Amino acid sequence: MFSKQLKFLKEKNLSREIGNRNSPQGAHIKINGKEYINFSSNDYLGLANHPALIRASQQAMKKFGFGSGASRLLCGGSILHEELEEKIARFKRTESALIFNSGYAANTGIIPAIAGEGDTIFSDELNHASIVDGCRLSRARTYIYKHKDTSNLENLIRKTKARRKIVVTDSVFSMDGDIAPLKEIYSICLALNAARCTPNTLLYIDDAHATGVLGKGKGSLEHFGIKPEPWIIQMGTFSKALGSFGAFVAGSKDTIEFILNTTRSFIFSTALPPCIIAASIAALELIEKKPVLIKKLWANRDKAAKGLTKLGYDIMESETPVIPVKTGSVENTLKTSRYLLKKGIFAPAIRPPTVKDPRVRITVTAAHTDEDIEKLLKALGSL
Ligand SMILES: Cc1ncc(COP(=O)(O)O)c(C=O)c1O
Repeated sequence: MFSKQLKFLKEKNLSREIGNRNSPQGAHIKINGKEYINFSSNDYLGLANHPALIRASQQAMKKFGFGSGASRLLCGGSILHEELEEKIARFKRTESALIFNSGYAANTGIIPAIAGEGDTIFSDELNHASIVDGCRLSRARTYIYKHKDTSNLENLIRKTKARRKIVVTDSVFSMDGDIAPLKEIYSICLALNAARCTPNTLLYIDDAHATGVLGKGKGSLEHFGIKPEPWIIQMGTFSKALGSFGAFVAGSKDTIEFILNTTRSFIFSTALPPCIIAASIAALELIEKKPVLIKKLWANRDKAAKGLTKLGYDIMESETPVIPVKTGSVENTLKTSRYLLKKGIFAPAIRPPTVKDPRVRITVTAAHTDEDIEKLLKALGSL
């Protein structure tokens, strides 16, 4: 039925394949029986296969069984869900928090809930696809501002008349590894809100790649020393540095209550099983107790980034463990990724439409050894 379209994708080298692991997630993985050093996961702290998460999950399964059986608003939630929400609120220094089934469900659900007809969204051009889809699903007008360009954002925002204005940005951009200028964005929103009795400019931050990574793991606001104002909504995921699954939104009590009452992806979806929630609780406790993991992540990131730059690779504006290696054409990107694969290194080619400029996206984690990183550098050095 779609053979023509598939042929077109194959001819353009844009067709995708799924690689299935037969090992746990980690710095070393097995795919189709072959072992690779893995530079492609978002398991930044190496927690996806951590004994503390597995233990917590097994204990929760013994107590609560496996499935959750219903949505949160029916009987799908457990006391573990409530405990995790309280922990997230404390972690993020907000009044309240709510769990979502995934980051994708959070963004595509919350954005249409908070931005309706008569409102205007201002979205960074490199925001994640789930934000793009959330904006499309909302009935708000959406302006796309140039990547990290706060003058462009300020111009757009000042000349727009709207009931409510919502600035939406990733804090760490998932394919580029650079960080949003949140201090400047915060100041723009603050100035607009200060001139009014009731704030009408919201700042919605996607901390998917900042949670567990920036600000001692607490995310981008902590990193920049920004106070979590009631008009700031922080979304984040448990599925990346926290090694688990699912997402959260944190904010003021009334914002979270409003989201709980109006977000379709929350209301009309089965709750996450307690064993997953228990793993997220264990992960949060671990990163609070073991800051050494985050230190190791950053040491590894710096070693890889410095090494790649020294070899003459363009790592774009990367400032985080997400390190894009610019490889020119789609063909060259595929060639580089396949070459690395032959050398026992798993690092995927990222192509349009995911990004405009093809690249090999390297993600460094706390679980990598010096030897792993040296092997990556050696392979790319002899390409
Ligand atoms: C910035 C960003 N937001 C949201 C998501 C979606 O999160 P999840 O994988 O939990 O659906 C991702 C994951 O790829 C992401 O990179």
